[in-house]
Amino acid sequence: MLTGKKIVLGITGSIAAYKAAYLCRALIKKGAEVQTVITPAGKEFITPVTLSALTHKPVVSDFFSANDGTWHSHVDLGLWADAMLIAPATASSIGKMVNGIADNMLITAYLSMKAPVFVAPAMDLDMYAHPSTQHNLDRLKSFGNHIIEPATGYLASSLEGKGRMEEPDAIVRALEDFFARNEQLSKKKIIITAGPTYEKIDPVRYISNYSSGKMGFALAEECALRGAEVILISGPVQLDVIHPNIRRINVESAEEMYRAALKYFPATDVGILCAAVADYRPLLYSENKLKRKNGESVVLELTPNPDIAAALGTIKKPGQRLIGFALETDNERMHAEEKLRKKNLDFIVLNSLNDTGAGFRGDTNKITILDTHGNVKEFPLRTKKEVAKDIIDETIN
Ligand code: PMT
Repeated sequence: MLTGKKIVLGITGSIAAYKAAYLCRALIKKGAEVQTVITPAGKEFITPVTLSALTHKPVVSDFFSANDGTWHSHVDLGLWADAMLIAPATASSIGKMVNGIADNMLITAYLSMKAPVFVAPAMDLDMYAHPSTQHNLDRLKSFGNHIIEPATGYLASSLEGKGRMEEPDAIVRALEDFFARNEQLSKKKIIITAGPTYEKIDPVRYISNYSSGKMGFALAEECALRGAEVILISGPVQLDVIHPNIRRINVESAEEMYRAALKYFPATDVGILCAAVADYRPLLYSENKLKRKNGESVVLELTPNPDIAAALGTIKKPGQRLIGFALETDNERMHAEEKLRKKNLDFIVLNSLNDTGAGFRGDTNKITILDTHGNVKEFPLRTKKEVAKDIIDETIN
């Protein structure tokens, strides 16, 4: 249900604009209050009279009312809404949204919007497939906007069926799912470690691993989307945080990550330890760049780093939950079970480098979740975003 939710429905100039009438009806049927905003081109495809009759509200399309010159405030719309839904969204409007070209009421409302924004693209396949459109959709996602489009499978290489606007009922379901998810973890504080650590050898060299941070960042975004307050302790990665409820703490070495984790864990409900922490660091750090000595090999002595997961496992209080990861190459199950027990974790997420598409760097992962009662649940290969959902569904909710 969408009872009491205030939705700004933006309509742009696409042949699919007629579906906006069905959308209005379906949203209202679910209990939402709908305010429509339409672009000049949108009015060529559906009349404001139809929309105002359905929503019982005047349609907003111009900056000033033609009758009395009243100013329509896009800022007020941005504050009023619980969500903005732009459906259909043409390639042109998407381009304007990305570039901040505020030449109509809909784009100004979008730019002032404080609530989450959902975009249902509608265009022909060639326009959809154009690198410019794909780039713009990626940009919208990077702003934290949600793209709603017909599913074709996450690994589908064919774009067949893409570009067509998602059916109104499915769009409404996506909004319902969003609001339901949004409250699942409200009041929970979650600490997540992500990415690799760098262990310095000298001013120009370090020891590290291949972690990109993608898995940990996906978990942080998903927890925040479900209403949690997230502290993300991240090693050096090339990723940005999107959700405003994520507080990011950048660290470089395992020591720094350890100190940050010990500081924040006591005040949280859940710890998710996704970072690939270096188990060892050079015993000695050289202030000067180590010089190459012709023909001679070099021995680097390593000393163990603190085990963050084990340390948190030791101070864990009743009611707190700890979820660790295990990245394995052999005897996977056995090693994962051992880490679960030794580090006093509640769950361990096993990923194996023997599974194609799993582990470091890529956008997918394949996991098995083990708990302390001996339960084992295997999941198929999925995007890291989907894997993050599975982990949270299985371990926190
Ligand atoms: O970042 P991506 O490129 O997306 O890749 C994701 C991932 C492969 C890094 C991730 O899915 C993953 O498996 N992370 C844990 C990697 C790892 O270091 O596993 P481990 O088996 O060595 O460690 C076991 C657990 O102890 C982990 O929760 C780890 O965070 C933790 N640990 C390990 C060593 C240490 N000194 N302190 C720790 O807290």
